[in-house]
Amino acid sequence: MDQQKKNEIFEHAKAWVLEAGERIKSNIDSPRSIETKSNPNDLVTEMDQETEQFFAKKINETYPDHYLLGEEGFGDEIEDLGGTVWIVDPIDGTMNFVHQKRNFAISVGVYYEGVGEIGLIYNVMDGTLYTAKRGEGAYKNEEKLPRLDEKRPLNQSILALNTSWLIPENPHVDHKGMEDLVKKLRSTRSYGSAALEFAFVAEGLLDGYLTMTLMPWDYAAGSVIVREVGGIVTRADREELDLLNKTTVLASRSNIHEEISKDYVRLKK
Ligand code: IPD
Ligand code: CA
Ligand code: CA
Repeated sequence: MDQQKKNEIFEHAKAWVLEAGERIKSNIDSPRSIETKSNPNDLVTEMDQETEQFFAKKINETYPDHYLLGEEGFGDEIEDLGGTVWIVDPIDGTMNFVHQKRNFAISVGVYYEGVGEIGLIYNVMDGTLYTAKRGEGAYKNEEKLPRLDEKRPLNQSILALNTSWLIPENPHVDHKGMEDLVKKLRSTRSYGSAALEFAFVAEGLLDGYLTMTLMPWDYAAGSVIVREVGGIVTRADREELDLLNKTTVLASRSNIHEEISKDYVRLKK
């Protein structure tokens, strides 16, 4: 992607993310209708939808030749990642948004010919903006994030893990391997927003994040940001991520990535 164009898109994306965040913040105490999607715990509010519509309008007006892949369906039907594609999760962590009114994020990734060029994750209620442009490092607000530690062993690591993957009958991963992993780790955390979990890996608050089902909008921005500080982001079996479908994801500091995947994660076919 042309550098000048990339900078211009970044500035627009940043301004829109901050504006969308302000709209969410100023409506945080308004009553809202909550609907469910694929199951009773898969929540969506009109704020998720309005925020995605806001991005759809801005992108369409400013860059009519760009595409939008968004969670709430106001974007385009994307079959490949040709051209410039914005991958947007208007509210990542909707359950936190509904139950806690905090711990949720806006996530925006911009991809050019399938390559992640720009990532922004906005922790709306605490006002922290994580950003990255490919090849230029990652930032927390205006502060450049240091490269991640490449030495600290797994038994001194904290991994973000949704505890549902520890339930023996979970359909995705062998339970014994996960149990052994949890025993090996220093500890686990679960924040309920994949985007924030990526941001915390980039910041070094977490050493990794492992999950069995994510959609492209959950990690499109996060993978750009984590890679900029030297982290590795792949499927849980270390294959390349498929940005058009549901996938497993393992994002971590480089020296523990292969060990987690090879020694502990046994995916069920
Ligand atoms: C969800 C959150 C959650 C993750 C789920 C996602 P949503 O996104 O990121 O942490 O475990 O897989 O679907 O629905 O709040 O945008
Ligand atoms: Ca999400
Ligand atoms: Ca969402």
